[in-house]
Amino acid sequence: MCVLEIGCIISEQCLNFVMRLFTLDIELNKGKTSEKVSRALERSVERFRIDYQENRLGFFELPADRSSCALAQHWAKETPKDITDVLLIGIGGSDLGVRMLCQALQKTGAGKRLHFLSAPDPDSVSEILSRLDWRRTLVNVVSKSGNTLEPISLLLAIWPSMKKTLGKRAKERVVVTTEEQEKSKLFCLAKEEGFRILPFPPSIGGRFSALALSSLYPAALAGIDIRGLLSGAKAMMDDVLTKTTYSLPAQYAAAMYAAIERGGSIHVCMPYAARLDAFAVWYRQLWAESLGKTVRGKRIGPTPIAGTGPVDQHSQLQLYQDGPQDKVITFIEIDRWEKDMRLAFAWKNMPLDGLAGTKLSTIMKAERLGVAEALHDAGCPTLTITIPTLNAFHLGSLCFFYEVSVVLLGYMLGVDPFDQPGVEAAKRATAKRLLTC
Ligand code: PA5
Repeated sequence: MCVLEIGCIISEQCLNFVMRLFTLDIELNKGKTSEKVSRALERSVERFRIDYQENRLGFFELPADRSSCALAQHWAKETPKDITDVLLIGIGGSDLGVRMLCQALQKTGAGKRLHFLSAPDPDSVSEILSRLDWRRTLVNVVSKSGNTLEPISLLLAIWPSMKKTLGKRAKERVVVTTEEQEKSKLFCLAKEEGFRILPFPPSIGGRFSALALSSLYPAALAGIDIRGLLSGAKAMMDDVLTKTTYSLPAQYAAAMYAAIERGGSIHVCMPYAARLDAFAVWYRQLWAESLGKTVRGKRIGPTPIAGTGPVDQHSQLQLYQDGPQDKVITFIEIDRWEKDMRLAFAWKNMPLDGLAGTKLSTIMKAERLGVAEALHDAGCPTLTITIPTLNAFHLGSLCFFYEVSVVLLGYMLGVDPFDQPGVEAAKRATAKRLLTC
């Protein structure tokens, strides 16, 4: 349900595809699409086409790049049999994508157990040190630049303990994923120490790397179907290439642009699936770092919020309903759950009896629909993306959908979606502070 006027740029053909892949459920407004939105979308899609043809969109080529998939699988297969755990050290785009993939797709008991360290928080490091047995653990340090404070300090923090347990063999248990160039401190260190090095693709930025080798390798270690992920992304890539302004990401970018034009400066991604909580956090980084920019003195960018349904119905929703009308909410729902459950007829004469026999999935659906209706009545636009089922294929599609959408929206807003000068400035300022703290 959505009150955005983008109806006339959605075609029948597109909707058929939507039904097959997932549904972008938009209340079709038969009125005129705003001229400004249409023109901005056309220009954005054209720029995307040119950038792709001129090889400036590294991330967009990932779904068709089967060699990364093969390499990730090969490296994962080569992992010694006695390794049961993997510690992934990285931050930002070198961390959030893998967390998101693992939370959504890793099956209990499948693959290696993944653990994550991103902040040099002494408590987390001590906890990891007390929990992991280095004889059974592989450490994967991921940093595109190879110069980020957090992963470097975390490696330094755990190294003495690894060395103490494993002695000379410690180096065999570290894989560094970084750009293969001398300006990466981690690359130099890895060469010197004899750690194995997996190349971080130079043409892909951290937050666009969820489907790149740097994420596929730990995902393969976790037993995730990485081939399925890429196939889903490829289906979305084909949609983008063949449908241009009618593709799903183009339609979504147009909807978000129209929302921004009407004052919708806060974008909430609210999955109704606990396994997608980390997806919303991944989305938040993608949206914030790609769109929050200053262009010719003008500060631009919607503020993303990582939501979680129905939990937020009992916290944030009050604000969305009655607070400032500056939000647009995207629900993500799952059509078919892997396992469903009917509530028992346990207490026949109790007031709760009305729920007996109801499926949990029905409750989730009713909650989502009810909230959409209430928000609609309160004047807050909402969109719903329905994934047929939460598997590797559809998650791959969904990730790629958001990656393309953010680039198209960035072009519409006139920002460079691929740089992050603010992040870099903070890294430099922190490095200076370290000398004085
Ligand atoms: O998306 C980005 O570019 C950033 O969030 C980076 O991923 C983050 O700063 C970590 O950088 P690096 O991978 O170079 O350690």
